Amino acid sequence: MTPAEQSRRAAEICRLAPVVPVLVIDDLAQARALATALVAGGLPALEVTLRTAAALDAIRVMAEVPGGRVGAGTLLTPADVKAAKAAGATFGVSPGATDRILDACAEYDLPLLPGAATASEIMVLLEKGYTVQKFFPAEQSGGAAFLKSIGSPIPQVSFCPTGGISLKNARDYLALPNILCVGGSWVAPKEAMARGDWAEVTRLAAEAAALR
Ligand code: 3PG
Repeated sequence: MTPAEQSRRAAEICRLAPVVPVLVIDDLAQARALATALVAGGLPALEVTLRTAAALDAIRVMAEVPGGRVGAGTLLTPADVKAAKAAGATFGVSPGATDRILDACAEYDLPLLPGAATASEIMVLLEKGYTVQKFFPAEQSGGAAFLKSIGSPIPQVSFCPTGGISLKNARDYLALPNILCVGGSWVAPKEAMARGDWAEVTRLAAEAAALR
């Protein structure tokens, strides 16, 4: 899949809702209920980070939840890309971008949101054809003010910022013309998940879905 096609599909996913939950799943038994709760609240696109042993199996389970679009985050190696695709991920997210990751996503037909945090990184990805990128780590790299500034010289790139975003500052990002959505973990708090409080997750998801 070409970078342009990857970006077209990534944009479709980013436009489904203002927020993409960034999920760290330790307990596979929670995966189905978590996805169901988030989708019920109005957040269909879900990023499962490949940071836990349960992540790939969680993607397999969550991919079956009606209405959900499950992707794999924290893609660091070509093997991650291959495994994510095999588990049923429909998109991928990487904190940065390397040629090996980009080549693997092309080879395995996985639409990628590649990460960038500087003007040069954004330009290198744009040269390759990636017009939709992740801005990471967003708050630590200049936040909404950076994205507003970069939109002047490089308006043709749109972003999904993640890292340090919450209900408090999400609107600052979503108000910008070069932002498709934001990513964040705040809609799936560890405490609520630990006590199986899926109603709370749905409430947080609905609050996030109403941001725009
Ligand atoms: C991450 O990779 O952990 C995401 O950027 C989420 O960051 P957050 O926990 O600050 O929302």
